[in-house]
Amino acid sequence: MNYLKDKKILLIITGGIAAYKSLELIRLLKNKGSEIKTVLTKSGKEFVTPLSITSLTQNKVYEELFDSNSEAEMDHITLSRWCDVILVSPATANSISKFSYGNAEDLASTLVLASDKKVILVPAMNVRMWMHQATQENVSKLLNYGYLCVGPEIGEMACGEYGKGKMSEPTKIIEFLNNFFSEQKTISKKKLKAIVTSGPTKEYIDPIRYISNNSSGKQGYEIAKSLIKNGIETTLISGPTNLPDPRNLKLIKVQTGEEMYEETKKNLPVDIAVCAAAVGDFKISKFQKKKIKKQDKINLELEKNRDILNFLSTHNFLRPNLVIGFAAETNNIIENAEAKISKKHCDWIIANDVSKSEIGFDSDFNEVSIIYKDKNKKNELISKRNKSEIAEEITKRILANFNT
Ligand SMILES: Cc1cc2nc3c(=O)[nH]c(=O)nc-3n(C[C@H](O)[C@H](O)[C@H](O)COP(=O)(O)O)c2cc1C
Repeated sequence: MNYLKDKKILLIITGGIAAYKSLELIRLLKNKGSEIKTVLTKSGKEFVTPLSITSLTQNKVYEELFDSNSEAEMDHITLSRWCDVILVSPATANSISKFSYGNAEDLASTLVLASDKKVILVPAMNVRMWMHQATQENVSKLLNYGYLCVGPEIGEMACGEYGKGKMSEPTKIIEFLNNFFSEQKTISKKKLKAIVTSGPTKEYIDPIRYISNNSSGKQGYEIAKSLIKNGIETTLISGPTNLPDPRNLKLIKVQTGEEMYEETKKNLPVDIAVCAAAVGDFKISKFQKKKIKKQDKINLELEKNRDILNFLSTHNFLRPNLVIGFAAETNNIIENAEAKISKKHCDWIIANDVSKSEIGFDSDFNEVSIIYKDKNKKNELISKRNKSEIAEEITKRILANFNT
């Protein structure tokens, strides 16, 4: 199905040898019924001419930040508000670097910084430029900000070298854009809502002392941010963490498992529940209102805490369509996660190995396995990567779940 009809695409052409491919891209987009406006960087103009672009788009080519011929003289704002998506194709190492540092020194970089739209990069450069740590860090930073990336591909380059850095073919970019708009349509049609629980809980013994765990809350926060970025209305219910408050979502801060349970209950119904919090399994049977005096020995009586995942999964009327639990395991990860699915009645378990110090609890990285209740679906391993990238992968699967 063609989701590109009547879409407004702002194409930024930067100064790479593959710029000529963007002319073919414009032609294909026009065939699909999209409207295209183009920004050409100064270096981009060395590779393609404004005349050839205008002939294809039937629209003016924008080149200057300070353009006295422009009616509003605020093209960086008007263009970024006009479009449905910004496509940077080809995206040079230089422009990627500028975007990642928030530079605003020409029309392209200023409008990307001023934009409230998704930015899709189509990187194209020499293999060494692409593999350079600086470029890799810049791209990874932009992906964390929610930018999307098509390619680059492996192949022979214009300079005669071979490797990763080749611009994706226009047909592949069209396919990517079509999927992008198809997902957007489904989301806006359904207006999905989600709850994410995150962080540890503190189970108080007396007003000062408590039992807690090492959860940093990072993975849950990243999932909430990624859901928001993808248009899902999200409530984040967080135990005590040191993380900055994410924007554009409803954030509820709690201390105990009991409070987390109450807030979860209050914020139903939702379509999706992601229970990433490490809720203490036990709470203190008798909370002491006054500080317990120092003594040689003390017996603490613990009892089972609220089981939020099980509560959501078995709710008669308000069960979310998709209930996802997390399992932090130190051994037999898959078997334990499968057992947890049948015990808790949730749909997916996302399991990670917390015995590995380089991933899991306090790390910025994670490696997870997704175990599905639906036995027609194969378990999946998402190999070690940044927690924000893990979150994007999980979100992708959540969206796909609602598209089918
Ligand atoms: C012949 C030639 C080809 C180039 N090809 C590329 C390229 O494919 N990718 C890239 O990142 N830079 C390439 N460059 C370097 C960029 O043109 C240069 O970094 C420029 O500053 C990019 O500016 P822009 O990002 O504002 O368009 C090339 C330079 C020359 C002279």
